[in-house]
Order: sequence, then C-alpha cells, then structure tokens
Amino acid sequence: MKLYLDTANVQEIREIHAMGVLSGVTTNPSLVAKALTQAGERFESEAAFYERFTGVVREIAELVQAPVSAEALSTDADGMVAEGKKLAALSEHVVIKLPVTAAGLAACRRLADEGVAVNMTLIFSANQALLAARAGARYVSPFLGRIDDTGWSGVELVRTIREIYDLHGIEAEIIAASIRHPQHVTEAALAGADIATIPYGVFKALLKHPLTDIGIERFLSDWEKAKQEL
Ligand code: G3P
Repeated sequence: MKLYLDTANVQEIREIHAMGVLSGVTTNPSLVAKALTQAGERFESEAAFYERFTGVVREIAELVQAPVSAEALSTDADGMVAEGKKLAALSEHVVIKLPVTAAGLAACRRLADEGVAVNMTLIFSANQALLAARAGARYVSPFLGRIDDTGWSGVELVRTIREIYDLHGIEAEIIAASIRHPQHVTEAALAGADIATIPYGVFKALLKHPLTDIGIERFLSDWEKAKQEL
C-alpha cells in the first residue's frame, strides 16, 4: 500500500517528503482553506483566493513529483470539466478530485476520455465505487473515518470494494481516505487498499514507538560506556 499525505500544508508535505516514503498528496477544499487561513493569509476576492489555491497545488506537485489530488468546486458537469482541465494544466501530476454525483460521474467520463486522471471522492458504498470505476476514475476514495462515525466499518467497505474490483478486473486504485488513527492504516493495508491518504498527525504517529526511543538511548549510552573503558 502506498502512502499519501492528506493535507494542503506545504510545510507538512516538505517534512514528510524528506523521509522518502511519500507517494502522493491529496487535498480538499476544507484542507486548502485551513492551510491558507492558518497561515494568516487574506484575500481581496474569490478570484485571488482561487489563484492562491492553484499556486499551492502547483507548488505541491513540483515538490513531490507524484500524484496530487485537487478538487473541482463546481457542482455541474460542464463546470467540473472546465475546472478539471484548468487544474490538470498546472502539472502532469495533478489528479482531479470529483464527488460521486451524477454530474461528477459525467465529468469523470469526459475528463478520463481526454486522458485526465480523476480521483472520485466521498465514496461511502461499494456501488458508488463501482460506478466511479466504470466512469473511468483512476482512483476512488472511500472515507473510512466518516463511515465509522455512522456506526459501520470503513475498513469493511475497503475490503468489499477490493473484492469487487479483483473479481471484475477493475484497475482503479482504492485510496483509503478519512484516516483518523494508525490502526486505520494497518487495517486498510490488510483490506487491500492500494493507497492510504493520511493526515500529518497520524503520519507522524506511524513512526513513533517508545521502545525505539528507549532502544536508541540504550545503544548510545552503552557505546559511551564502552568508550570510557577503552
Ligand atoms: O481524505 C478525506 C479527509 O480529508 C476527510 O477526513 O477526518 O474530515 O473525515 P475527515
């Protein structure tokens, strides 16, 4: 399973990218708004905000040189296609994120036919994942945490989509999204997700283990002791 970072914060991406484990980045409008407002940026118009958004997407793509999902905000198919084409022109690495609605599916088909990669998002059922794949999506994003919030299991949905895709030779890649904790990452990998897109805090938590820290401390102090005795 490949590891993506689910953020629009360039500092966070820079830090995780430096570890050499990152295969891509996903953003969404909430994450972009959070990253820009957290940085205290102010905008005179919606056009200026959108311009900054596209600048951030380009910067992330240049940095990671790997797929970067950027969401179209239109709700009609023509608007999604127009936005998708503009975003795709920013970099060969940009993937267009569209919601799994009737308009989203229609736009996905049109963009896919023109060779634009689409990540169909807000997937909450196996049938939505089947529709997305048949509309030509390169990626589908089931939202694990938000499914768990409703009392069902996001990991079970990933397992079901995997089974359907394998049974029918469907090549769309499954991105486990709305990851909330490290256990989601392990379980998504076991359920057959191709990719997990992980928030910064959870990504950092994947690495942490107290015994690793204790082990390093002990190795170094034993080494120091041995040096004293030379
Ligand atoms: O990848 C989708 C993610 O950004 C949504 O996460 O925690 O808001 O459900 P969450």
